[in-house]
Amino acid sequence: MFVFAMLSMACKTTVNAQNHSKTQDVNALLEKRYQSLLDYPIDSLGFPRSMSLKTGVVKKVPSKDWTSGFFVGNLWQIYQLTGDSRFKERAAVWNAFMEKEKLNNHSHDVGFKIFCSFGKGLEVENNPKYKAVVIKSAETLITRFNKKVGSIRSWDFNKDIWEFPVIIDNMMNLELLFEASKFSGDAKYKKIAIQHANTTLKNHFRKDGSTYHVVVYDTITGVAKNKITFQGFKDDSSWARGQSWAVYGFTMCYRYTKDAAYLKQAEATAKYFINHKNMPEDGIPYWDFNDTSIPNAPRDASAAAVMASALVELYKYTKDEMYLNYSNKVIHSLSSDKYLLNETVKGPFILDHSTGHLPKNDEIDEPIIYGDYYFLEAIIRKKAL
Ligand code: GLY
Repeated sequence: MFVFAMLSMACKTTVNAQNHSKTQDVNALLEKRYQSLLDYPIDSLGFPRSMSLKTGVVKKVPSKDWTSGFFVGNLWQIYQLTGDSRFKERAAVWNAFMEKEKLNNHSHDVGFKIFCSFGKGLEVENNPKYKAVVIKSAETLITRFNKKVGSIRSWDFNKDIWEFPVIIDNMMNLELLFEASKFSGDAKYKKIAIQHANTTLKNHFRKDGSTYHVVVYDTITGVAKNKITFQGFKDDSSWARGQSWAVYGFTMCYRYTKDAAYLKQAEATAKYFINHKNMPEDGIPYWDFNDTSIPNAPRDASAAAVMASALVELYKYTKDEMYLNYSNKVIHSLSSDKYLLNETVKGPFILDHSTGHLPKNDEIDEPIIYGDYYFLEAIIRKKAL
């Protein structure tokens, strides 16, 4: 099947001699991991989010959780890779459980939820009902836009501490707005996406290309008054997944706008990430580049997977081989015994060693659903090159 050929190609790019029987093992293992998604019971309230390998317990969440769309997206993507219609049929079943999220305006995450499920479904089939869900979700997302700030509000919690928080992750939600403008013919969604991207470009980045996690704005003046972290090691550190969201987000914004400033920022942050002195040899970063316990800090495979997918696209626009080499290295590393879950693991996941929220002591060094999602997307994007 195609994915296996792709993995083999990725390995050949980074390793001189590829052991054939080893490649076959990886292929067989991936097939088993894919099957584990079909083995997972259908449950409209139990989207798999992460898993403890110590206890074997799968953490399940309802559709309102920010991660719910990734499992659905993984089913769509495995269908794209294998052509096995069982994955497509199952994806359509789970997609239906997500639809109510189009009206959920409690956070910016409507973008992650709907675009990673319905948006991925639209790559597979031109379904007008899915397009209508994307447009309705975009309508919901723009209710969180503040004209004075020029951004979409990310979170509603901690209102007594943060007046108007915007996190770098929010760049990922703009794809929903760009697509909604295409589907509806109404430019208002795209205009808001561009304003959000421009405000983020102005306030989120440091001179070395790295990004802050959270910028808190004053809603009276529109001024960025605090630059802090929520999930990172400290306010001025570089939380690895945040860097990846930034590169993915600005590369994607370049796709829709051709604004060279977006490409310039994506390149600056990508170079910071790839060339960082604390980047391990295998290309899978520690969860935060500035954790003082490195090299004993946990890795974040999800940050590597998001970056690998983003850099296949960045390579398309720049033709800089450095980006493609990094993506190849990550696909190769994540396909090794160290990261790929073996057949004994009974849970709908593919990769180990992602880190969700270390300061909260939550989801550290374990399988997390979005790591799998961007790993599969990176492979699919490579195929399309
Ligand atoms: N958007 C939340 C995270 O990256 O963990």
